[in-house]
Amino acid sequence: MLEIRDLHIAYPKSASEAVRGVSFDLSHGRMAGLVGESGSGKTTIVTAVLGLLPEGSRGSGAILFEGRNLLALPEDELRRLRWKEIALVPQGAQNSFTPVKTIGSHIEEVLRVHLGVTGETARSRAAELLEQVELDARIVKRYPHELSGGQKQRAAIALALACEPRLLLADEPTTALDVITQAGVLKLLMRLKAERDLTVLLVTHDLPLAASVCDELLVMKDGELVERGAPRKLIHSPEQPYTRRLVEAIL
Ligand SMILES: Nc1ncnc2c1ncn2[C@@H]1O[C@H](COP(=O)(O)OP(=O)(O)OP(=O)(O)O)[C@@H](O)[C@H]1O
Ligand SMILES: [Mg+2]
Repeated sequence: MLEIRDLHIAYPKSASEAVRGVSFDLSHGRMAGLVGESGSGKTTIVTAVLGLLPEGSRGSGAILFEGRNLLALPEDELRRLRWKEIALVPQGAQNSFTPVKTIGSHIEEVLRVHLGVTGETARSRAAELLEQVELDARIVKRYPHELSGGQKQRAAIALALACEPRLLLADEPTTALDVITQAGVLKLLMRLKAERDLTVLLVTHDLPLAASVCDELLVMKDGELVERGAPRKLIHSPEQPYTRRLVEAIL
């Protein structure tokens, strides 16, 4: 479904590359974990997949989504894919809600802008989406500050699912949550993946957490993909010194 080939990305005005020669595949229906320390380039990859890098960024290689190279796609075609085919739960999603708008109106806006769905249909769809992420449908009427961190994270997932994407990019969806709430959000992602036939790229700096839910792990360091493999193999017999350090850090 997603094939990344020798991807290089440099931000504007930056002499060095944030992503250097990364290649990996993500097959339909799988959940891969992109792990690595802060600044290793995880968010940069996710942002590139959505075609949302800042103006003036330089990229080479290919990001193939079902055969089409997203790096070479014109903006209007990318816009057609965003939300409907590929959706993002952004890093810090909990803080990305507009404080003066209710949770319901955030979801309704996405439905209106991307699907042209309005009125009662949009309202009931918003309530339904909240129920799918195991939130009370009455939360549509609440403002972001009236939700807990875990509830906001679930609401952000509901928002990402609004247009029924096939590929979900979740950037640190459990960071800043307590362990019990983290487990709940991960279980939710796994359930949604199975029920909705989603393919998921889960970004996290938390190796054990990724290992507990992903089919495959991709380990990043300083913009490079240093190791990839099944969680069990990677944790029990890491090949690269960096992966070994990451594993040792959790023991
Ligand atoms: N908008 C930007 N402009 C310039 N440089 C950036 C920008 N965003 C990120 N960078 C740089 O690119 C590199 C990779 O950052 P990125 O956000 O992809 O890391 P990350 O792995 O997601 O880290 P974290 O775990 O902290 O979220 C870093 O050196 C960062 O400083
Ligand atoms: Mg990041």
